[in-house]
Amino acid sequence: MVNMTKAIIFLWGIALLFCSIINVSRSLPAPGNDVKVIDVRKYYHKPTQEEIEYDDEYVPGSYHDAFAEAWDVACRKTTGPVKILVPKGKFLLPPIMFSGPCISAKPIVFEVEGTIIAPTNPSLYPNAEWITFADLDSLVLNGNGVFDGQGGVVDPETKASAWGVNDCKTNKNCVPPSSNLRFERVQNSIVTGITSLNSKWFHYHVFMCNNFTATDLHIIAPKDSPNTDGMHLSESTLVNVANTVIETGDDCISIGQGCTNVNIHNVICGPGHGISVGSLGKERTDKSVVGVTVTDCTFINTTNGARIKTWIGKGHGEAKNIIFDNLIMNNVKNPVVIDQSYGSKKKRAPSTSLWKISDTHFRRIRGTTTSSVAVSLQCSSKNPCEGVEVSDIDLTYVGPSKTVALTSSCANAMAKFGGKLTTGACQ
Ligand SMILES: *[C@@H]1O[C@H](CO)[C@@H](O)[C@H](O)[C@H]1NC(C)=O
Ligand SMILES: *[C@@H]1O[C@H](CO)[C@@H](O)[C@H](O)[C@H]1NC(C)=O
Repeated sequence: MVNMTKAIIFLWGIALLFCSIINVSRSLPAPGNDVKVIDVRKYYHKPTQEEIEYDDEYVPGSYHDAFAEAWDVACRKTTGPVKILVPKGKFLLPPIMFSGPCISAKPIVFEVEGTIIAPTNPSLYPNAEWITFADLDSLVLNGNGVFDGQGGVVDPETKASAWGVNDCKTNKNCVPPSSNLRFERVQNSIVTGITSLNSKWFHYHVFMCNNFTATDLHIIAPKDSPNTDGMHLSESTLVNVANTVIETGDDCISIGQGCTNVNIHNVICGPGHGISVGSLGKERTDKSVVGVTVTDCTFINTTNGARIKTWIGKGHGEAKNIIFDNLIMNNVKNPVVIDQSYGSKKKRAPSTSLWKISDTHFRRIRGTTTSSVAVSLQCSSKNPCEGVEVSDIDLTYVGPSKTVALTSSCANAMAKFGGKLTTGACQ
């Protein structure tokens, strides 16, 4: 009997030991040496005189080939976990595309600790892209590094900067310069930590992506830099942008045609033109935008806060299921805007836009504004807005005039006003 008990205790002990070994091995992080780290510097070689002479596109100091080869090894020649590392330092990088599909284990990690610098010479850019990530599943782009588009830097050869020659405000057929980072058909991916500086055009262009998360980013350009949208989204679904600081010359975030399920949370925007749904309907083929939330954001010195803009334009479409909630306005010119005659030369031109805006909510918006019309809802006469709610707008005027009563202005808005309204309601 005693022996039997001893045997049971012994077996029990072995079983416990086993369990704890299994548990320990489960809870251990993957050892660092499991991940193959591919340092881009390893693939750099100084070009020979011959290579320089025979390369029409030779750019002195370019890391193009080093990055391209590092990507090729990581994406197409590695089957296990892999990380591309751009270490501290400066890397001049002409336009490049990092495309999949990859055979490496998911996710493929691209870590940037250094500063990646865009050339200033426009002839090096075959199209409006600088760095493109395309056709990828499970990309992680992270690090504390910087993508410097050099938008304001004068090119020694052309004697102009990308911003300097940008005439897109007046020239309909202007050729746009490059975005800093373009993501195209990228899914289940995360971009975090990095800084985008002085892009020539959009900082981020997210196109046809699905399940794309951007967090803890810093986006910086001067307030007068042209078309430097912080992040422009189009034809993308399930996009999350959070904990991000955007100081730029155009919209901090613009949610373009064909987007669904976009969630923007805790973004600090300013200077800039605010967070916009649109502009929509400039092209006949523009698709609807459904499901946008913009919550817990702060706007500082921006021209707009929460905005929806559609062109009088040609095609049909809808913008619906949109929530702006809990926003702080700090010195913002137009805190709440629906503009259905966007792009029209006349200010507040009556709209005949074929786009329909519905199920849209502006809630809990507080702070300061510099113009008297703090809520402006200018909807289409052909397609009046439907289900627009404006509630708890607690703004005070801090503009140039002495005392100004804040107002709300509406056309075809059919809006329901409620809660505390320092701007008054439209009748
Ligand atoms: C989105 O992508 C992340 C990162 O790869 C993944 O963890 C998550 O499960 C994905 N979500 C959906 C809904 O597919
Ligand atoms: C906002 O504008 C005010 C007045 O022009 C300026 O003093 C302040 O520094 C600006 N704030 C930011 C964060 O840019």
